[in-house]
Amino acid sequence: MKIGIVGHIHELGWEVLQSQGHTIIEVKDTSVDSLKNELAEVSGIVLRTAQMPNEVIDACPHLQIIGRHGVGYDNVDLNYLNEKKIALGVTGTANAVSVAEHVMTFFLQLTKNIQLSDDLTRKGGFQDKGNLPTFFELYQKNVLILGFGRIGQAVAKRCLGFEMNVYVYDPYVNDEKVKELGCHSISKDEGIKIADFISVHLPLSGDTRNFINAKSFQEMKKSCVVVNTARGGIINENDLFMALHKKKIRAAGLDVFEQEPPSTDHQLFKLSNVLLTPHNAALTLECRKRMAIEVCETVSFFLKNKEKLNIQNIINRKELGI
Ligand SMILES: NC(=O)c1ccc[n+]([C@@H]2O[C@H](COP(=O)([O-])OP(=O)(O)OC[C@H]3O[C@@H](n4cnc5c(N)ncnc54)[C@H](O)[C@@H]3O)[C@@H](O)[C@H]2O)c1
Repeated sequence: MKIGIVGHIHELGWEVLQSQGHTIIEVKDTSVDSLKNELAEVSGIVLRTAQMPNEVIDACPHLQIIGRHGVGYDNVDLNYLNEKKIALGVTGTANAVSVAEHVMTFFLQLTKNIQLSDDLTRKGGFQDKGNLPTFFELYQKNVLILGFGRIGQAVAKRCLGFEMNVYVYDPYVNDEKVKELGCHSISKDEGIKIADFISVHLPLSGDTRNFINAKSFQEMKKSCVVVNTARGGIINENDLFMALHKKKIRAAGLDVFEQEPPSTDHQLFKLSNVLLTPHNAALTLECRKRMAIEVCETVSFFLKNKEKLNIQNIINRKELGI
Protein backbone atom coordinates (compact mmCIF):
# COMPACT_ATOMS: atom_id res chain seq x y z
CA MET A 1 0.00 0.00 0.00
CA LYS A 2 1.06 3.61 -0.49
CA ILE A 3 1.90 5.52 2.66
CA GLY A 4 2.84 9.19 2.82
CA ILE A 5 5.42 10.38 5.33
CA VAL A 6 4.93 14.10 5.92
CA GLY A 7 7.98 15.56 7.67
CA HIS A 8 11.22 13.90 8.75
CA ILE A 9 11.11 10.76 10.92
CA HIS A 10 13.87 8.42 12.12
CA GLU A 11 14.89 5.84 9.51
CA LEU A 12 13.77 2.98 11.80
CA GLY A 13 10.20 4.02 10.93
CA TRP A 14 10.95 3.73 7.22
CA GLU A 15 12.31 0.25 7.84
CA VAL A 16 9.04 -0.79 9.49
CA LEU A 17 7.01 0.30 6.47
CA GLN A 18 9.43 -1.19 3.95
CA SER A 19 9.57 -4.51 5.77
CA GLN A 20 5.77 -4.68 5.55
CA GLY A 21 5.95 -4.13 1.78
CA HIS A 22 4.54 -0.60 1.65
CA THR A 23 5.53 2.04 -0.89
CA ILE A 24 6.62 5.24 0.82
CA ILE A 25 5.89 8.69 -0.54
CA GLU A 26 7.97 11.24 1.34
CA VAL A 27 6.47 14.73 1.34
CA LYS A 28 8.84 17.56 2.20
CA ASP A 29 6.86 20.51 0.82
CA THR A 30 3.91 20.83 3.20
CA SER A 31 1.98 23.51 1.28
CA VAL A 32 -1.66 22.53 0.68
CA ASP A 33 -1.17 22.09 -3.07
CA SER A 34 1.85 19.85 -2.60
CA LEU A 35 0.09 17.73 0.05
CA LYS A 36 -2.95 17.31 -2.24
CA ASN A 37 -0.81 16.23 -5.18
CA GLU A 38 1.63 13.98 -3.36
CA LEU A 39 -0.87 12.23 -1.10
CA ALA A 40 -3.67 11.60 -3.62
CA GLU A 41 -3.03 7.84 -3.82
CA VAL A 42 -2.11 7.03 -0.21
CA SER A 43 -3.98 4.73 2.19
CA GLY A 44 -2.14 6.00 5.26
CA ILE A 45 -0.29 9.13 6.34
CA VAL A 46 2.51 9.39 8.90
CA LEU A 47 2.36 12.97 10.11
CA ARG A 48 4.84 15.02 12.08
CA THR A 49 3.99 18.64 12.83
CA ALA A 50 2.59 20.01 9.54
CA GLN A 51 -1.03 21.13 9.42
CA MET A 52 -3.31 18.66 7.64
CA PRO A 53 -6.26 20.73 6.35
CA ASN A 54 -9.58 19.08 5.51
CA GLU A 55 -9.19 19.88 1.81
CA VAL A 56 -6.10 17.65 1.77
CA ILE A 57 -8.11 14.84 3.39
CA ASP A 58 -10.77 15.35 0.67
CA ALA A 59 -8.08 14.92 -1.97
CA CYS A 60 -7.11 11.45 -0.62
CA PRO A 61 -9.97 9.11 -1.55
CA HIS A 62 -8.18 5.95 -0.30
CA LEU A 63 -7.07 7.38 3.03
CA GLN A 64 -7.89 5.12 6.01
CA ILE A 65 -5.56 6.35 8.76
CA ILE A 66 -3.45 9.31 9.80
CA GLY A 67 -0.77 8.39 12.33
CA ARG A 68 0.65 11.25 14.42
CA HIS A 69 4.32 11.08 15.33
CA GLY A 70 3.58 12.20 18.91
CA VAL A 71 0.52 12.27 21.14
CA GLY A 72 -0.92 15.75 20.49
CA TYR A 73 -3.15 16.06 17.42
CA ASP A 74 -4.11 19.68 17.13
CA ASN A 75 -2.80 19.78 13.53
CA VAL A 76 -5.71 17.62 12.29
CA ASP A 77 -9.48 18.08 12.55
CA LEU A 78 -10.60 15.04 14.55
CA ASN A 79 -14.32 15.73 14.00
CA TYR A 80 -13.75 15.74 10.29
CA LEU A 81 -11.81 12.47 10.42
CA ASN A 82 -14.69 10.95 12.41
CA GLU A 83 -17.17 12.14 9.79
CA LYS A 84 -15.06 10.57 7.03
CA LYS A 85 -14.45 7.39 9.10
CA ILE A 86 -10.70 7.87 8.94
CA ALA A 87 -8.69 6.63 11.93
CA LEU A 88 -6.36 8.86 13.93
CA GLY A 89 -3.37 7.13 15.52
CA VAL A 90 -0.84 8.46 18.04
CA THR A 91 2.38 7.14 19.60
CA GLY A 92 0.93 6.63 23.05
CA THR A 93 3.75 4.63 24.60
CA ALA A 94 6.74 6.51 23.16
CA ASN A 95 6.87 10.01 24.66
CA ALA A 96 6.29 9.98 28.37
CA VAL A 97 9.81 9.25 29.64
CA SER A 98 11.46 11.83 27.42
CA VAL A 99 9.00 14.60 28.37
CA ALA A 100 9.14 13.65 32.06
CA GLU A 101 12.95 13.89 32.05
CA HIS A 102 12.63 17.32 30.41
CA VAL A 103 10.35 18.42 33.26
CA MET A 104 12.86 17.22 35.87
CA THR A 105 15.62 19.07 34.01
CA PHE A 106 13.54 22.27 34.20
CA PHE A 107 12.83 21.71 37.91
CA LEU A 108 16.50 21.12 38.74
CA GLN A 109 17.91 23.89 36.58
CA LEU A 110 15.34 26.44 37.74
CA THR A 111 16.14 25.76 41.41
CA LYS A 112 19.89 25.31 41.16
CA ASN A 113 20.95 27.56 38.24
CA ILE A 114 23.89 25.24 37.83
CA GLN A 115 25.48 27.26 35.02
CA LEU A 116 26.17 30.11 37.49
CA SER A 117 28.27 27.70 39.55
CA ASP A 118 30.01 26.52 36.38
CA ASP A 119 30.76 30.13 35.30
CA LEU A 120 32.13 30.95 38.73
CA THR A 121 34.36 27.87 38.86
CA ARG A 122 35.80 28.54 35.39
CA LYS A 123 36.48 32.18 36.23
CA GLY A 124 38.58 31.26 39.26
CA GLY A 125 35.84 32.18 41.71
CA PHE A 126 35.95 28.88 43.63
CA GLN A 127 36.36 30.64 46.96
CA ASP A 128 33.46 33.03 46.21
CA LYS A 129 30.83 30.31 46.22
CA GLY A 130 29.12 32.00 49.16
CA ASN A 131 28.21 34.88 46.84
CA LEU A 132 26.18 32.71 44.47
CA PRO A 133 22.40 33.19 44.58
CA THR A 134 20.63 30.83 47.00
CA PHE A 135 19.71 27.49 45.51
CA PHE A 136 17.22 24.87 46.63
CA GLU A 137 16.22 21.19 46.84
CA LEU A 138 13.30 19.26 45.42
CA TYR A 139 13.32 17.03 48.53
CA GLN A 140 10.04 17.19 50.50
CA LYS A 141 8.65 19.99 48.32
CA ASN A 142 5.06 19.92 47.07
CA VAL A 143 4.61 19.32 43.38
CA LEU A 144 1.24 19.76 41.68
CA ILE A 145 0.72 17.72 38.54
CA LEU A 146 -2.12 18.98 36.37
CA GLY A 147 -3.33 16.08 34.19
CA PHE A 148 -2.50 12.54 35.34
CA GLY A 149 -2.27 10.72 32.02
CA ARG A 150 0.77 9.09 30.46
CA ILE A 151 3.18 11.98 30.96
CA GLY A 152 1.74 13.24 34.26
CA GLN A 153 2.22 9.76 35.75
CA ALA A 154 5.79 9.49 34.43
CA VAL A 155 6.58 12.86 36.03
CA ALA A 156 4.99 11.74 39.31
CA LYS A 157 7.18 8.62 39.39
CA ARG A 158 10.32 10.71 39.00
CA CYS A 159 9.21 13.29 41.56
CA LEU A 160 8.60 10.46 44.06
CA GLY A 161 12.17 9.34 43.36
CA PHE A 162 13.26 12.78 44.57
CA GLU A 163 11.07 12.27 47.68
CA MET A 164 8.73 15.11 46.76
CA ASN A 165 5.09 15.24 47.96
CA VAL A 166 3.14 14.63 44.78
CA TYR A 167 -0.34 16.19 44.40
CA VAL A 168 -2.51 15.50 41.38
CA TYR A 169 -5.42 17.37 39.84
CA ASP A 170 -7.25 15.28 37.25
CA PRO A 171 -11.01 14.82 37.72
CA TYR A 172 -11.02 12.04 35.10
CA VAL A 173 -8.72 9.73 37.06
CA ASN A 174 -10.11 8.08 40.18
CA ASP A 175 -8.60 8.81 43.57
CA GLU A 176 -7.78 5.13 44.19
CA LYS A 177 -5.44 5.04 41.21
CA VAL A 178 -3.77 8.28 42.32
CA LYS A 179 -3.26 6.80 45.80
CA GLU A 180 -1.97 3.49 44.42
CA LEU A 181 0.74 5.41 42.62
CA GLY A 182 1.85 7.11 45.84
CA CYS A 183 0.26 10.49 45.09
CA HIS A 184 -2.55 12.61 46.59
CA SER A 185 -5.62 13.94 44.76
CA ILE A 186 -6.29 17.63 45.31
CA SER A 187 -8.54 20.34 43.89
CA LYS A 188 -7.02 22.74 41.38
CA ASP A 189 -7.47 25.75 43.70
CA GLU A 190 -6.00 24.06 46.76
CA GLY A 191 -3.15 22.53 44.74
CA ILE A 192 -2.14 25.89 43.29
CA LYS A 193 -1.95 27.39 46.79
CA ILE A 194 0.32 24.75 48.34
CA ALA A 195 2.56 23.95 45.36
CA ASP A 196 6.28 24.66 45.28
CA PHE A 197 6.35 23.22 41.74
CA ILE A 198 3.58 22.95 39.14
CA SER A 199 3.82 20.87 35.98
CA VAL A 200 1.17 20.98 33.26
CA HIS A 201 0.19 17.76 31.44
CA LEU A 202 -3.28 18.53 30.08
CA PRO A 203 -4.48 18.48 26.51
CA LEU A 204 -5.29 21.92 25.07
CA SER A 205 -9.07 22.31 24.74
CA GLY A 206 -11.81 24.86 25.30
CA ASP A 207 -11.77 23.81 28.97
CA THR A 208 -8.03 24.05 29.46
CA ARG A 209 -7.15 27.22 27.50
CA ASN A 210 -5.90 29.82 30.04
CA PHE A 211 -6.18 27.13 32.74
CA ILE A 212 -3.40 28.98 34.58
CA ASN A 213 -4.00 32.70 34.49
CA ALA A 214 -3.51 35.93 36.46
CA LYS A 215 -5.81 34.70 39.24
CA SER A 216 -3.82 31.46 39.58
CA PHE A 217 -0.50 33.35 39.80
CA GLN A 218 -2.06 35.54 42.47
CA GLU A 219 -2.74 32.40 44.55
CA MET A 220 0.68 30.77 44.13
CA LYS A 221 3.55 30.84 46.61
CA LYS A 222 6.22 33.41 45.70
CA SER A 223 8.67 30.51 45.57
CA CYS A 224 6.62 28.50 43.04
CA VAL A 225 8.24 27.13 39.88
CA VAL A 226 5.84 26.53 36.98
CA VAL A 227 6.60 24.28 34.01
CA ASN A 228 4.60 23.72 30.84
CA THR A 229 5.62 20.97 28.43
CA ALA A 230 2.02 20.27 27.33
CA ARG A 231 0.66 22.90 24.96
CA GLY A 232 0.98 26.68 24.64
CA GLY A 233 -2.17 28.50 25.70
CA ILE A 234 -2.88 26.31 28.76
CA ILE A 235 -0.90 28.90 30.70
CA ASN A 236 -1.83 32.43 29.66
CA GLU A 237 1.52 33.73 28.38
CA ASN A 238 0.88 37.39 29.10
CA ASP A 239 -0.21 36.61 32.66
CA LEU A 240 2.89 34.43 33.09
CA PHE A 241 5.07 37.28 31.85
CA MET A 242 3.54 39.66 34.41
CA ALA A 243 3.92 37.10 37.23
CA LEU A 244 7.61 36.54 36.41
CA HIS A 245 8.32 40.22 35.78
CA LYS A 246 6.76 41.20 39.12
CA LYS A 247 8.40 38.22 40.85
CA LYS A 248 5.05 36.84 41.99
CA ILE A 249 6.59 33.39 41.36
CA ARG A 250 10.20 32.22 41.36
CA ALA A 251 10.59 30.92 37.83
CA ALA A 252 9.04 29.13 34.88
CA GLY A 253 10.07 26.64 32.22
CA LEU A 254 8.31 26.45 28.86
CA ASP A 255 8.72 23.97 26.04
CA VAL A 256 5.53 25.11 24.29
CA PHE A 257 4.17 28.50 23.23
CA GLU A 258 0.85 30.10 22.30
CA GLN A 259 2.30 30.73 18.88
CA GLU A 260 5.00 28.40 17.54
CA PRO A 261 7.59 29.40 16.69
CA PRO A 262 7.35 32.39 19.05
CA SER A 263 8.33 35.76 17.56
CA THR A 264 11.98 36.70 18.13
CA ASP A 265 10.95 39.74 20.17
CA HIS A 266 8.68 37.72 22.47
CA GLN A 267 8.37 39.50 25.83
CA LEU A 268 9.39 36.36 27.79
CA PHE A 269 12.80 36.38 26.05
CA LYS A 270 13.72 39.47 28.06
CA LEU A 271 13.40 37.74 31.42
CA SER A 272 16.11 35.76 33.19
CA ASN A 273 13.75 33.83 35.52
CA VAL A 274 12.30 31.76 32.67
CA LEU A 275 13.90 28.86 30.81
CA LEU A 276 12.71 28.23 27.25
CA THR A 277 13.09 25.25 24.92
CA PRO A 278 11.86 24.86 21.32
CA HIS A 279 9.14 22.20 21.79
CA ASN A 280 11.79 19.50 21.91
CA ALA A 281 10.90 17.71 25.16
CA ALA A 282 10.09 14.54 23.21
CA LEU A 283 13.02 14.73 20.84
CA THR A 284 15.68 12.68 22.59
CA LEU A 285 17.23 10.22 20.15
CA GLU A 286 15.63 7.31 22.00
CA CYS A 287 12.22 8.90 21.85
CA ARG A 288 12.51 9.81 18.14
CA LYS A 289 13.32 6.18 17.40
CA ARG A 290 10.40 4.92 19.50
CA MET A 291 7.97 7.40 17.92
CA ALA A 292 9.07 6.57 14.36
CA ILE A 293 8.66 2.83 14.95
CA GLU A 294 5.37 3.19 16.82
CA VAL A 295 3.69 5.52 14.34
CA CYS A 296 4.71 3.38 11.36
CA GLU A 297 3.57 0.19 13.08
CA THR A 298 0.27 1.82 13.97
CA VAL A 299 -0.39 2.90 10.38
CA SER A 300 0.83 -0.35 8.86
CA PHE A 301 -0.93 -2.68 11.33
CA PHE A 302 -4.16 -0.70 10.99
CA LEU A 303 -4.08 -1.16 7.23
CA LYS A 304 -3.17 -4.81 6.98
CA ASN A 305 -2.36 -6.51 10.27
CA LYS A 306 -5.06 -5.46 12.73
CA GLU A 307 -4.36 -8.29 15.17
CA LYS A 308 -0.98 -6.68 15.91
CA LEU A 309 -2.40 -3.17 16.30
CA ASN A 310 -2.25 -1.50 19.73
CA ILE A 311 -5.85 -0.32 19.65
CA GLN A 312 -5.18 2.15 22.52
CA ASN A 313 -3.23 4.19 19.99
CA ILE A 314 -6.33 4.82 17.87
CA ILE A 315 -7.89 7.96 19.31
CA ASN A 316 -11.25 7.61 17.56
CA ARG A 317 -11.65 3.83 17.99
CA LYS A 318 -15.11 4.28 19.55
CA GLU A 319 -16.32 6.57 16.79
CA LEU A 320 -15.09 4.04 14.19
CA GLY A 321 -16.65 1.16 16.09
CA ILE A 322 -13.40 -0.83 16.42
N1 LIG B 1 6.40 19.01 24.69
C1 LIG B 1 6.28 17.94 23.94
O1 LIG B 1 7.09 17.64 23.09
C2 LIG B 1 5.10 17.02 24.16
C3 LIG B 1 5.24 15.67 23.84
C4 LIG B 1 4.17 14.82 24.09
C5 LIG B 1 2.98 15.32 24.61
N2 LIG B 1 2.86 16.65 24.87
C6 LIG B 1 1.61 17.17 25.43
O2 LIG B 1 1.54 16.74 26.79
C7 LIG B 1 0.16 16.71 27.19
C8 LIG B 1 -0.14 15.42 27.95
O3 LIG B 1 0.10 14.31 27.13
P1 LIG B 1 -0.26 12.82 27.65
O4 LIG B 1 0.29 11.88 26.66
O5 LIG B 1 0.09 12.67 29.07
O6 LIG B 1 -1.85 12.88 27.52
P2 LIG B 1 -2.93 11.92 28.23
O7 LIG B 1 -4.13 12.00 27.36
O8 LIG B 1 -2.33 10.61 28.54
O9 LIG B 1 -3.21 12.68 29.62
C9 LIG B 1 -3.91 13.88 29.72
C10 LIG B 1 -4.62 13.88 31.06
O10 LIG B 1 -5.27 15.13 31.22
C11 LIG B 1 -6.51 14.90 31.88
N3 LIG B 1 -7.41 16.02 31.60
C12 LIG B 1 -8.05 16.32 30.45
N4 LIG B 1 -8.77 17.45 30.59
C13 LIG B 1 -8.59 17.85 31.87
C14 LIG B 1 -9.07 18.94 32.62
N5 LIG B 1 -9.90 19.85 32.09
N6 LIG B 1 -8.68 19.06 33.91
C15 LIG B 1 -7.82 18.16 34.47
N7 LIG B 1 -7.34 17.08 33.80
C16 LIG B 1 -7.72 16.94 32.52
C17 LIG B 1 -7.01 13.59 31.31
O11 LIG B 1 -7.91 12.97 32.21
C18 LIG B 1 -5.71 12.80 31.17
O12 LIG B 1 -5.49 11.98 32.32
C19 LIG B 1 -0.65 16.92 25.91
O13 LIG B 1 -1.01 18.29 25.83
C20 LIG B 1 0.34 16.62 24.81
O14 LIG B 1 0.01 17.28 23.62
C21 LIG B 1 3.90 17.50 24.66
